[in-house]
Amino acid sequence: MQLIDGKKVAEEIKKEIALEVDKIVASGKRPPHLAAVLVGHDGGSETYVAYKIKDCEAVGFRSSLIRYEDDVTEEELLSKITELNNDNELDGFIVQLPLPKHISEQKVIEAIDPKKDVDGFHPVNVGRTVIGLPAYVSATPYGIMELIRRYNIEISGRNCVVVGRSQIVGRPVSILLSQKGVDATVTVAHSRTKNLEKICAEADILVAALGSPEFVKGHMVKEGAVVIDVGTTRIPSKETKSGWKLKGDVMFSEVAEKCSFITPVPGGVGPMTRVSLLKNTLLAAKKEIY
Ligand code: GUN
Repeated sequence: MQLIDGKKVAEEIKKEIALEVDKIVASGKRPPHLAAVLVGHDGGSETYVAYKIKDCEAVGFRSSLIRYEDDVTEEELLSKITELNNDNELDGFIVQLPLPKHISEQKVIEAIDPKKDVDGFHPVNVGRTVIGLPAYVSATPYGIMELIRRYNIEISGRNCVVVGRSQIVGRPVSILLSQKGVDATVTVAHSRTKNLEKICAEADILVAALGSPEFVKGHMVKEGAVVIDVGTTRIPSKETKSGWKLKGDVMFSEVAEKCSFITPVPGGVGPMTRVSLLKNTLLAAKKEIY
């Protein structure tokens, strides 16, 4: 069994991005610039956005943080989005989710110019991904595909089972895996799937993205399979300072010994998710998608 080291790959990609930034700056242009809009003081969102800003600094990007209190109106937020859409000094931006209940997340996502939508959440980017056009791909699906590529894992013609059909992971990753040139045979399984255990056990590549800690047990995995664990459920823990630890969707102790490759939690898909935003911002700065 080989462990897929997402932390190491993410560091490699960051180094590659930093080199590209050096080239951009050496050519007389400003560095890539990402802005993050943060509404309110949700603990998780504060942490994620702080990481995003720190990642920008690490690769030499410019970053801006735009904060609003919880009581910001939808109109005010949409007006800021229009301003950011038209800001030529900015390559891409994100609005951190979730938003307070009085603001429509869908309206906000659709207000972002697809050319600056480095989260890849806008329907135009999702649609372009579906029909195989260049697009900003959302962070986790991109991270999963890049891990598979960088570990030279054969995908073409293989039987992939994606467990979970969420808009931000299961569904897009199933589309990327079945794209022309990638060529997996993909089954999307979900909570209503019959014979789920049997279907999982037939997978050459199993992507567990259902958000249920340790759902995938040893008997559900074929000998020699590749297992990608996307789960990141916080479980209370007395062993950590924070009082919680991350659990994946795969029972690692049972599954690891049967696999050819497996992503650990933490340190597998997670670090790749962070680096994906940097990659999309670089693509935006270089105008490589649109
Ligand atoms: N909230 C949790 N994950 C994400 C993400 O990838 N992007 C945004 N904008 N909000 C999030």
